[in-house]
Amino acid sequence: MIDREKINNNSSYRYVGLVTDIKSGVSKSYTIRTDGEQHLDIAVFNINGKFHAISDSCAHKGGPLSKGFLEGDIITCPWHGWKYSVKTGKSAHEGGDSVNSYEVKIIKNKIYVNSIPSNVGKRIFKSSEAYLNLKKSVDDYLILKSNNNILPVDDKKVRFLGISTTNSNDKVAPRKSTSEDALHFALEYAKKNLEAETVMIKLRDLEFNHCEGYYSKNPNACIFPCTISERDSEDQMIQIYEKVILWADIVLIATPIRWGSASSLYYKMIQRMNCVQNQIISHDRYLIRDKVAAFIITGGQDNVQHVAGELMSFWSQLGFVFGKFPFVGWTRGWYAEDTENNYDAMTSSLKNNTSVSKEYQNSKMYNDLVKTINGALEMSLLVKRNKYDQTVLHRSNNA
Ligand code: FES
Repeated sequence: MIDREKINNNSSYRYVGLVTDIKSGVSKSYTIRTDGEQHLDIAVFNINGKFHAISDSCAHKGGPLSKGFLEGDIITCPWHGWKYSVKTGKSAHEGGDSVNSYEVKIIKNKIYVNSIPSNVGKRIFKSSEAYLNLKKSVDDYLILKSNNNILPVDDKKVRFLGISTTNSNDKVAPRKSTSEDALHFALEYAKKNLEAETVMIKLRDLEFNHCEGYYSKNPNACIFPCTISERDSEDQMIQIYEKVILWADIVLIATPIRWGSASSLYYKMIQRMNCVQNQIISHDRYLIRDKVAAFIITGGQDNVQHVAGELMSFWSQLGFVFGKFPFVGWTRGWYAEDTENNYDAMTSSLKNNTSVSKEYQNSKMYNDLVKTINGALEMSLLVKRNKYDQTVLHRSNNA
């Protein structure tokens, strides 16, 4: 609500509402105008019958402080938890950012807020260098893409990023992983036969936090780069963001099947990638350009199709495209309880291991992996040469 009523013509105080509009312990937001006709969003708080006003926009990313959690005279921003005194606008802890605070006058049960701040908020918090570098690199990359200034396609330099999502614990009880070995084979094949550049990331080697579900609070609270990486300078999801968005042409995900789904580490990673997908929804910003995804799904028992469906659903929503035969699956069926044979059973077909039984030698996995890798490579070249994403986005935006 915007109200132009002033205490008197020369006053910088603005009427916002009646004292009965705001119960004790709650807050309400108002928009007032300054003398320069600027709009100010103000949060007014009633603390035991005393009224206080601060900016309604959190110094962090603009979260609405009037909708925060009030304890005593401290308001916690509903988006990522920054805290302020509603009396002074100052951070609740030493060295934190502050927001503007405004004097309040009550005249005949009417609340007036001074449009000139009594304390001006200050920015102090500094994001980590890694966070700022990622932000800048992605901004620059998108400017390059939106200017249609595409670098020439170098067919020899297709980049495969392998992400192994198994959680086999190398430090405590090392074991051979079928999904990781298949990924290793695929990357070696791409390097030797397709002259690709390859990088493998083992998710279990990275330290990173769980998604904290900011999207569920408000789409604009889920920000790229993720605010968890901003808060925690050690958060190694930055490596995933950097490699997936900026480096890779092809992302190859390998997962074991765990109770019919992908690994828990895989889900931990993709939930942190909500902020990549959310850029499309809330900012019309497409971070993934001309990239291909493919998948390796292995398990002792079953459910390849279900896992493939889940993986393809998520990566398609990020903006990845798929080549022919975008996933390879391998399982030994519901009754294969001799799990100690899984690794040899699968790798026999990849390594021509003739010492294992014939049943496994006839596995088609070798051919399927090669088909998937070649399908991904050809699709990568096609989309890059044809500026596929740019064309689709340009046409869609101008439709
Ligand atoms: S804590 Fe307020 S917007 Fe992030």
